[in-house]
Amino acid sequence: MKKIEVILVGAGNRGKTYTEYAIRFPEEMRVIGVVEPQKRLREEFAARHNIPQNMQFVNVEEFVKAGKECDIVFNCTLDNLHYETCKALLQYKYNVLVEKPITPKKEELLDLANIAKKNGCFVAVCHVLRYTPFYQSIKRHILNGEIGKITSIYMSECVKVGHFVESYVVGKWKSEEECGSPFLLAKSCHDTDLMCWLNNDTEPEQIASFGDRKIFLPENAPVTHGERCTSCSAEPYCKYSVLKALFKAGWTARIMNDIDKPKDEITKEDIIEHLKVSDYGKCAYTNRDLMDRQNLIVKFKNGSIGTFDLIGAAATGNRHIHIVGEDGEIFGDHSKSTYCVRKFNFDTYQSTDEWYDVSANIKSDHGGGDDGLVRELIAYLNGDRSSVSITKLSDSINGHLVVYNAELSRKTGQIVRFE
Ligand SMILES: NC(=O)c1ccc[n+]([C@@H]2O[C@H](COP(=O)([O-])OP(=O)(O)OC[C@H]3O[C@@H](n4cnc5c(N)ncnc54)[C@H](O)[C@@H]3O)[C@@H](O)[C@H]2O)c1
Repeated sequence: MKKIEVILVGAGNRGKTYTEYAIRFPEEMRVIGVVEPQKRLREEFAARHNIPQNMQFVNVEEFVKAGKECDIVFNCTLDNLHYETCKALLQYKYNVLVEKPITPKKEELLDLANIAKKNGCFVAVCHVLRYTPFYQSIKRHILNGEIGKITSIYMSECVKVGHFVESYVVGKWKSEEECGSPFLLAKSCHDTDLMCWLNNDTEPEQIASFGDRKIFLPENAPVTHGERCTSCSAEPYCKYSVLKALFKAGWTARIMNDIDKPKDEITKEDIIEHLKVSDYGKCAYTNRDLMDRQNLIVKFKNGSIGTFDLIGAAATGNRHIHIVGEDGEIFGDHSKSTYCVRKFNFDTYQSTDEWYDVSANIKSDHGGGDDGLVRELIAYLNGDRSSVSITKLSDSINGHLVVYNAELSRKTGQIVRFE
């Protein structure tokens, strides 16, 4: 097996997570370069992976002009940078692994797919859930025909309150206008991708979607609230205080990247100082444009129906799935990595249940998906085509089109047809 050489674009949270694989499995993968505008992050990353000065770059333009070779570039920049950075990489014929969402705009997605095809580039997407033992085993039961032809898929995702506040109320994805992605795209293009991947005998045909922002509105703020949690007299009893989301729920990793100090030297006081001046510290009830819940119903061309509920600020963060086929059902709880395959016997008119617990196979975050993705990608680049999960860009288009059309439906109040 050839050792895969990777160059990372964007040495933030996700980029560091995927590339740690090279530290744990140095015989399989090596990180040979980094593109990162923030000096401290670039240097820390270069030190971690022993990357020489001439393989450290400040931006993608500088990198592509340098003409360095590698097997694949991991593009782990933020949502609204994916299009321009991927376009430049594909024009220079690099293979790319890009973070989800690929891009918030349909025209850009199709443009990237065309450039990749024209230049013969392989593009994979970080739909890490496809690589979890949970969803991967469910996919295998479907491929084995154990529940017959799919007639219905019901899926849900609840985002736990601390996570929701940190990411979608005050953090990087708090506003579509700023980050480019609506809530459904930022959080759940994973789920719409799973729906289309699990049901890929067919394609989406029509969609309807509802969504609203009902909690995080100025009129719901405590009467004595201030502009920032750090100076707010209502903070001790405010449900959505960012101090609680960061320190009680433990969501401090991302804000620490914004503080210009080595991570292990950052104190709680440094974070509080940052909250006094950054958007992270602004009241959760500030009026913004992101939904706090949204659902969708997709009718597929073969008549099957997919339903998905996304709910922000819930007590528990989790995903559930219930797939009904002509010969049985599969239902499961992602957080426990357990699911049941129920087969219906048309002779006895009875069903039998078989329960599976795949939690022992989880070796990394995202239910095992982070490592699973990198491991299967390395195998793929070595010519192994056995993965049921590996996503080429063309395979990921439907899941993204579901989100774009759901947004169109939500905004117009119309049922939208896929063209
Ligand atoms: N697959 C998943 O489950 C999952 C989970 C969380 C986030 N994400 C996605 O991963 C992406 C990255 O998120 P993150 O939390 O790591 O963000 P981050 O802010 O921690 O990292 C992004 C990095 O990109 C760098 N950057 C900015 N401009 C750049 C440029 N022009 N060229 C190169 N680098 C540049 C930033 O300095 C930063 O270090 C986002 O698109 C996000 O939506 C995916």
